[in-house]
Amino acid sequence: IKNIAVLTSGGDAPGMNACIRAVIRTGIYHGINMFGVMQGYQGLINNNIKPMDSYSVCNILQLGGTILKTARCLDFKTPEGMQIAYDNLQKNDINGLVVIGGDGTFTGAKLFSEKYNVKVIGVPGTIDNDLAGSDFTLGYDTAINTVIEAVDKIRDTADAHDRLFFVEVMGRGSGCIALRSAIASGAEAVLLPEKETSIEDLIQKLKLGASTKKSSSIVIVAEGHKQGGAFDVAKRVKETFNHYDTKVTILGHLQRGGSPSSFDRILGSRLGFAAVNALVAGESGKMVGLKGNDIALTSLNEALTKHSYKLEDDLMEMTKVLSI
Ligand code: F6P
Repeated sequence: IKNIAVLTSGGDAPGMNACIRAVIRTGIYHGINMFGVMQGYQGLINNNIKPMDSYSVCNILQLGGTILKTARCLDFKTPEGMQIAYDNLQKNDINGLVVIGGDGTFTGAKLFSEKYNVKVIGVPGTIDNDLAGSDFTLGYDTAINTVIEAVDKIRDTADAHDRLFFVEVMGRGSGCIALRSAIASGAEAVLLPEKETSIEDLIQKLKLGASTKKSSSIVIVAEGHKQGGAFDVAKRVKETFNHYDTKVTILGHLQRGGSPSSFDRILGSRLGFAAVNALVAGESGKMVGLKGNDIALTSLNEALTKHSYKLEDDLMEMTKVLSI
């Protein structure tokens, strides 16, 4: 393999820059010409591909966001768009691609690697942690830390005013951030997209707390919960349970930014290093991930399925027990 390009696509995630740095420097170490693609798949279509040297990734390890920018590219979903992307790779003589992103990114990468003669390796980069084949995705740990820092602060004011707070966290289809941050912040209840929790059950839980010595409570709501977001849930609860003064906080995109945690810096470095080594070893159509403390390869196909196992039943049970 002579020339490798790297891109970031979909929602950004803290640790992507650490990963880009590792990809570029590992490639250079192997004597490979390295390229960066700007704005994800859109940059492949626009031929926005630039050579990168070791210096071009100086001082980025600690930064959130992505120096390569990112986009959710609709054109790449069309056969015409994919063809243009391939033609541009050909023009630049690039035969290896590292894509850092989440499920949308991997869906594109899978089709692309099946259709064209380009070796593609995926790196799981999404705060959602919703890919099979890696216990953790890049950015997930930092996002949870951001959430718990925010909820700790909300807890102070909730306690001072004896209020009930509904805090909405990211995850349209994934409750991973919600579940882990609920445990780490000691939330009274958590609502996940993958699990049915009725408003009646939630009210029972809150009533129980109010009947003991709980003067305030926090409910974490994943944005993709079936009963709606935090505003909807708060409204429904208030209709029949008015014990507390109720407030809503939407944490939103602040969960995607910030300097990566040590865990995400190390994970990004390990996965970037492993991605290039996989391409050098002739692998394609696979994702590099972390299983236990080992790097593992999983087919992109498998990575896109079966992620709900990450909502372990014991953790679910624990949120109920530890919040009585
Ligand atoms: O996939 C990462 C994620 O942050 C999800 O948790 C969230 O639902 C979505 O992206 C938001 O996407 P956008 O930034 O395009 O609004």
